[in-house]
Amino acid sequence: MPLPGRRKAGRRRAQLNREPGAADAGAAFLAALEGELGELARRDLRSPALALSERYRSAGAGEDAPRFSSTEMQAYLATRAPATFAATRRVLAELASLRPGWAPESVLDLGAGPGTATWAAVDVFRSIGRAVLVERDREAAALGARLGEGGLTGLVPELFWILGDATSAALAESDLVVAAYVLGEIGECRELPALERWWGATKGELVIVEPGTPAGFERLRAARSVLISWGAKVTAPCPHDGCCPMEGPDWCHFAVRLERSGLHRDLKAARLGYEDEKYSYLSVSSSRPFAPSPRLVRSPRPHKGHVRLVLCEPGGLFERVISRRDGALYRHARDLRWGDRFSSTDQI
Ligand SMILES: C[S@@+](CC[C@H](N)C(=O)[O-])C[C@H]1O[C@@H](n2cnc3c(N)ncnc32)[C@H](O)[C@@H]1O
Repeated sequence: MPLPGRRKAGRRRAQLNREPGAADAGAAFLAALEGELGELARRDLRSPALALSERYRSAGAGEDAPRFSSTEMQAYLATRAPATFAATRRVLAELASLRPGWAPESVLDLGAGPGTATWAAVDVFRSIGRAVLVERDREAAALGARLGEGGLTGLVPELFWILGDATSAALAESDLVVAAYVLGEIGECRELPALERWWGATKGELVIVEPGTPAGFERLRAARSVLISWGAKVTAPCPHDGCCPMEGPDWCHFAVRLERSGLHRDLKAARLGYEDEKYSYLSVSSSRPFAPSPRLVRSPRPHKGHVRLVLCEPGGLFERVISRRDGALYRHARDLRWGDRFSSTDQI
């Protein structure tokens, strides 16, 4: 049972994470997390939450990453799952907006954990009727299946959990293949064969989401080069399939803001009621049925009478100054956020 008074907070949190056109799966996921955690005393999760954040702070979990203990898994639900959900959902919503007519019917969720990416996919694409979730950890898969009971199971007629290794198990070919926050846990020498299998199972889009850290970005940059060499076209975030222009200490990442639950605030000893989850991502497909637009890789900098934008474009990274004199383009630029696409004059 949820703790008294926490339902309302859950609804508010769900609201903040939702974007236009959202279905109800997002709210149901956050409610399921709350239901699962409702009876736990905060003190029970404090030390597993610390252990978890220590694990994520140490450079990459890697091949020998220890499995989650059941309390670490609960700490993951309280402190990480709302954020990984928000980031994955944001990425999939971007995909939906780039490919408006696309209606994937199946999703393959690799390293599913509690099923976060499947919930996000169903929230964005109501066309999904089949989901296959691959998870190597028995505890995580059992928890994910329990969370889905009555929620995800009601939304997706064919739902299968596979207890196995996403780098070697037989994978169901699917329209949408998502690997959220798992590439970094795979271990360097198994990344290439894993990518080959994931790409081989992709009928539509392969989406990889990683933490928005330099290490997360480097993994994606390497995966991007390999996938392009196999004929993949980048759907997002890059507006081209050429060399990535990010250099030096810079890395391509974005952020999504979400409200923190009371439990999350407590476990992290955080004062703010929200957090900004930084993420990096890549979505590739065998074709790109739209003309790509430059993308903002920093927050726009508004000044008196003009806006400065740092854009990733086919020719590299450019700083563009859009002045009030540019009329509609200026009004468009003024409303942009970090991570948005910059439309040309004829598109606005
Ligand atoms: C950080 S969690 C991410 C969970 C979920 N995708 C999300 O975004 O919240 C990584 C998950 O991947 C699982 N995992 C790691 N390596 C795996 C592998 N080779 N095959 C299947 N699952 C794996 C872990 O057990 C863990 O549940």
